[in-house]
Amino acid sequence: MVRFDVVQQSNGLLAVLPQTQGLVVVFVGATSDDSWFIKTGIGQSALEHFAKSTVNPRIYSTARAKTVDSHNEFLDTLRTANPTGSYTLLQADPSLVTDMDSAVDTVLKKETKVDLLFMSPGFFAWNGREDTKEGLDPSMSTRYYSRLRAVQRLLPLLNAAPSPRVISILAAGMEAPLNEADLDLCDLNNWSMWNASLHACTMGTLAHERLAQENPRVSMVHCNPGAVATPGLAINTKHGMIPPNPISQDEAGQRALFLSTSDRFAVHPGLVPVPEGLEVLQKSGGGMFLVGPEGEIKDSEKVLAPMRQRGVDKEVWSFTQDIFSKCVAAAAR
Ligand SMILES: NC(=O)c1ccc[n+]([C@@H]2O[C@H](COP(=O)([O-])OP(=O)(O)OC[C@H]3O[C@@H](n4cnc5c(N)ncnc54)[C@H](OP(=O)(O)O)[C@@H]3O)[C@@H](O)[C@H]2O)c1
Repeated sequence: MVRFDVVQQSNGLLAVLPQTQGLVVVFVGATSDDSWFIKTGIGQSALEHFAKSTVNPRIYSTARAKTVDSHNEFLDTLRTANPTGSYTLLQADPSLVTDMDSAVDTVLKKETKVDLLFMSPGFFAWNGREDTKEGLDPSMSTRYYSRLRAVQRLLPLLNAAPSPRVISILAAGMEAPLNEADLDLCDLNNWSMWNASLHACTMGTLAHERLAQENPRVSMVHCNPGAVATPGLAINTKHGMIPPNPISQDEAGQRALFLSTSDRFAVHPGLVPVPEGLEVLQKSGGGMFLVGPEGEIKDSEKVLAPMRQRGVDKEVWSFTQDIFSKCVAAAAR
């Protein structure tokens, strides 16, 4: 458990430490649908705090067509608030794997390292399964396929950074047994809004763990933010999912910045030192940080360990590679 004042103190060091100047960061899902009375999601708040707290940041942020204009306006406010930064909008829909490829291609062309990849796109499929043109359930592609595609493609640049980190904001601690015969839940008898959510969460943890093992310098972090008052939560509330006492998106953003920059969540320290009285969080058996809303550990070993023993993580990753290949092949046609 990390107190909020400790989070704020740690974030305050970003402006003065030499090692946190000139960080290159990529945000996926840091836009917000401003038609809701609540206008800021967790990613957008994290991006705002990152931009306002650091010196010379080089920030890339994706937006899909419908939020490009509002996101550009938001980036303009950051350009004014912190003119030492550079801000690049990448038009890409996070429900499409090949859109992630185009966004990543731009970063690969312009940068020689990436210090942080921060991912928070996603939604509950209240309207049922409505596949994308790539044939994927968008509630799964935003929360799983596109995220892992972005990580996989950015690994060369992440490995080139001194203390690289990947943050996935989703549902750490909610991992559950998978329908191993139908990982994509193609059969509508297997698909439900909840099953899609559990598959995205569990496959995400297993896949990030595999990448963590293959890339031991990169800190992989899966965070469960708890209930946060965002546009996403407003939609869920309309459908009757009303968690008690959500925290503000501003606090969630500051906590996300701590998650992104404190050595508490680093396999290779080098950003903001761990606050006094705290220690580096213990990693999961598969080598990633599973973190709760207040920076505490989430333990899913009872579910994950037997799956790893049976090689389900390998199955998931190999299945995911096939999905990626199909998306790329279809786009080339
Ligand atoms: N808020 C909570 O209480 C809570 C709790 C636990 C887990 N989470 C998870 O944490 C992540 C961030 O949550 P949040 O509440 O900050 O979310 P949010 O405000 O709803 O924003 C999520 C992002 O997902 C994108 N998105 C939503 N639907 C999409 C679709 N159909 N296709 C493509 N992109 C889509 C949004 O893009 P646009 O701006 O273009 O719409 C936005 O960039 C989500 O994955 C959520 O499931 C949230």
